[in-house]
Amino acid sequence: MFTTTWKKTVWIIALGLALSGCQLFNHARVPHEKAHEKVPPITVSQQKWGEVDGQAVYLYTLKNAQGMTVKVSNWGGYVQSILVPDRHGKFEDVILGYDTWQEYYNDCCYSGPIVGRFGNRIAKGQFEIDGVTYQLTTNNGGPNNNINQLHGGLKGLHKRLWQGQIVDNKVEINYLSIDGEEGYPGNLAIKVTFSLDQNNGFKISYQATTDKKTPVNLTSHTYFNLSGNMQRDVEGQKLQIIAEQITPVDHLLIPTGALVPVAGTPFDFRQPMKIGEKIRTHDQQLKMGGGVDSVFGGYDHNWLFSDYDGSMKVQASLYDPVSGRHMSIETQEPALQFYAGNFMDGSVIGKGGKPVEHRYGIALEPQHYPDSPNQPHFPNTILAPGEVYQTATIYRFSLR
Ligand code: BGC
Repeated sequence: MFTTTWKKTVWIIALGLALSGCQLFNHARVPHEKAHEKVPPITVSQQKWGEVDGQAVYLYTLKNAQGMTVKVSNWGGYVQSILVPDRHGKFEDVILGYDTWQEYYNDCCYSGPIVGRFGNRIAKGQFEIDGVTYQLTTNNGGPNNNINQLHGGLKGLHKRLWQGQIVDNKVEINYLSIDGEEGYPGNLAIKVTFSLDQNNGFKISYQATTDKKTPVNLTSHTYFNLSGNMQRDVEGQKLQIIAEQITPVDHLLIPTGALVPVAGTPFDFRQPMKIGEKIRTHDQQLKMGGGVDSVFGGYDHNWLFSDYDGSMKVQASLYDPVSGRHMSIETQEPALQFYAGNFMDGSVIGKGGKPVEHRYGIALEPQHYPDSPNQPHFPNTILAPGEVYQTATIYRFSLR
């Protein structure tokens, strides 16, 4: 008894000394003038944007001291705009999307929402857990778009109104996806948090829990174009992905199951490479990217990060040599779906009334491998009761 109390006292004193030491050390590191300098806080405001089934849709604006501004909504978790400066200090929008809520309500093309429960494709919309086969809604592949499931199904998370609130200068949105929704088992409680830091990092954090085993693969389906306000196509922008392998796909963009090295192929982005540099190479996988019957072709594949361990790491970057804008992607996810806007054809009208032409944006989606529930050798995507799904990605902007 005495020994325990005595030990405790020693520990408390030691801890106290250590903490005061840390404080002294930190204090010593802050230059005298800086200590009194006040950085304006991150501001977050909300405005009513629309209404669905009598419930308010909000557009939230996050802004940091450098003027970087991000708008997000509780409708589908859409990121509506990201304004960052070019090398002349001109702030422009670096993501695709629309001006009004009504256009987001009718969005055909996943222009910036949270996608799930399972972002990307699940073959035949089917999988098995503990001997039970689940049939999901199907919305993709074949002449009737009904062979596979893509991005959560007919009415995925992007077509739902989430509960939105501002908490500690962050925007938090919550959605309860009920047992059986789009065919998925279990009630899945999802929380997504959007935040901005003073170093031009925009972070999206994801959390989910379930009461039955279910696949979960959440991501943001934002299309980037660093030219600003969609001035040019993305072919001249340089992409880097720290990945040695991709998952090759079949004609319906379902992974064949193989893991193929990028070395010596047009898929080698280990060093920054212009998106357009090798996109027209005769290559069977590039052809698949547009769908085998398509004249388009291009990248629409999953790159597997070489040194994934679940911690936050810079795994990819995009750079526009004309504007000087650079974006790095720091993520806890194991892979990146890079879709080069192959199907864009000018038929969708975006912000400012501008048509979204071929390759006027690319989707860079940190996530798990497509069709994981059917490919046992891919990293696990099944969330079980009692577990917490937790992941995050930071899109960080700078100038080069
Ligand atoms: C997919 C593409 C699809 C696009 C829009 C991407 O995530 O990989 O195949 O066309 O989303 O739906």
